[in-house]
Amino acid sequence: MAESDPRLLAPPADVVTPLVGNGDVDWDTFDSQAYFSHNYGELRPDDARIIEIVAGFFERNAPGRNAMRHAIDVGAGANLYPAMVMLPYSARVTLFERAYTNRVWLQHELAEPHGSWREFWDKIASGRPEYQPIRNPLGVLHDRAVVEKGSVFSMAPDRYDLGTMFFVAESITTRTDEFQRAARNFVRVLRPGAPFAAAFMRDSSGYVVKGQFFPACSIGPEDVEKALAPVARNVDIEMVESNDLREGYGGMMVATGRKK
Ligand SMILES: C[S@@+](CC[C@H](N)C(=O)[O-])C[C@H]1O[C@@H](n2cnc3c(N)ncnc32)[C@H](O)[C@@H]1O
Repeated sequence: MAESDPRLLAPPADVVTPLVGNGDVDWDTFDSQAYFSHNYGELRPDDARIIEIVAGFFERNAPGRNAMRHAIDVGAGANLYPAMVMLPYSARVTLFERAYTNRVWLQHELAEPHGSWREFWDKIASGRPEYQPIRNPLGVLHDRAVVEKGSVFSMAPDRYDLGTMFFVAESITTRTDEFQRAARNFVRVLRPGAPFAAAFMRDSSGYVVKGQFFPACSIGPEDVEKALAPVARNVDIEMVESNDLREGYGGMMVATGRKK
């Protein structure tokens, strides 16, 4: 991605930018490999911090390791680490994704994972006893994961015991109503009391993957709080410093909590 890509610059103040809804985007042309290489080809300090927050949260709040739990990562894209963080607590992990390209990439990645995931796992497992018994995390993930086609806007409620959704609700639309619906639907698919973690870009103006522009809804912590309030309890929102992934965003945020 060119650092000076004009599509990432803010428009002049007097220009009314049209709203781009989730249905206006051709998700099936999302370049998974380019997205993976840019974001997860190596472990970055921002993801390392997110891992600390989320792994620590699940360690304190997740259901017992031996229970037959079903986890979900919504909008998994080209990212395996949210699912890896949930491994000790899940007998099954659904990788739920709208884009055809990402579903194909995920299937292939589960069978032949890139080496960088080992770095992510080392960060996840280091000093956390729950993760130590898993000696071959990518093999275990391959055995437990199911890639499922679908949209966060049409999911059945009350089905999963824990869940993650990273950089989805605010990164699939410019519309505030769709951001809120996506965040709420994610929590609604969990069973009452289920713990969750969701990551968000702060103040994002959209992003480019291999020359294709994708929309974002510019949000801050108060928007996350407002979106989650009707469906979640014990919500905690942490800021994560990040400024060199691309232009046009103001850091990352992680929300943890439980479904009401
Ligand atoms: C910015 S990417 C985030 C990917 C990944 N979760 C991560 O952490 O990097 C947004 C993802 O949301 C997916 N997506 C777009 N619309 C969706 C929808 N309606 N329901 C579920 N996923 C959707 C995209 O295909 C893409 O994989």
